[in-house]
Amino acid sequence: MTTVERTLVLLKPDAVMRGLAGRVLQRFEDAGFKIVGAKMKQMDADMARKHYFDLEERFGKSVFDVTAGFMQQGPVIALVLEGVEAVATVRKLVGSTFPNQAPPGTIRGDFAHTSKGYTEAQHKVAANLIHASGNVEEAKYEVELWFSADELHDYQTVAEKYTF
Ligand code: PPS
Repeated sequence: MTTVERTLVLLKPDAVMRGLAGRVLQRFEDAGFKIVGAKMKQMDADMARKHYFDLEERFGKSVFDVTAGFMQQGPVIALVLEGVEAVATVRKLVGSTFPNQAPPGTIRGDFAHTSKGYTEAQHKVAANLIHASGNVEEAKYEVELWFSADELHDYQTVAEKYTF
């Protein structure tokens, strides 16, 4: 039994500023995910607090501060991707939170370790190109936080529309 899910992906400021948005998005499309929502947004402190509402509890204040600050350094591209077991599969494509532990072939493994211009701590963790929802419950919360119902689109991909 396959489960179609929606998950939230943010192309973080380092992905946008390094001009990697197109190539990263291509990875998700190549893997067969359907884009059902997309927009560019500058996060502010309020949005960072809402998005990372449990980060301080999970990892401590300094991780929250570094991550929330980093996410406001430039605009992000927010996406909602749809696909079979999208939440876990997108996380697999993205690779480990820590870019130096992400294997080649994952997005972070292929691109994130080359980030420049950040402190070492940011370089290792915060400048990791992508946020992707961690589990199905988080995905539901994050999709609703970032997108209104009328910004999410139901349509058929060519593969869904035609069977060859
Ligand atoms: S994990 O390890 O999978 O549970 O982490 P994750 O759920 O992906 O979320 C952790 C987010 O915090 C950012 N961050 C750090 N995490 C762990 N340790 C340190 N030191 C740290 N510094 C920053 C990390 O980039 C994740 O951000 P998002 O935007 O969720 O990917």
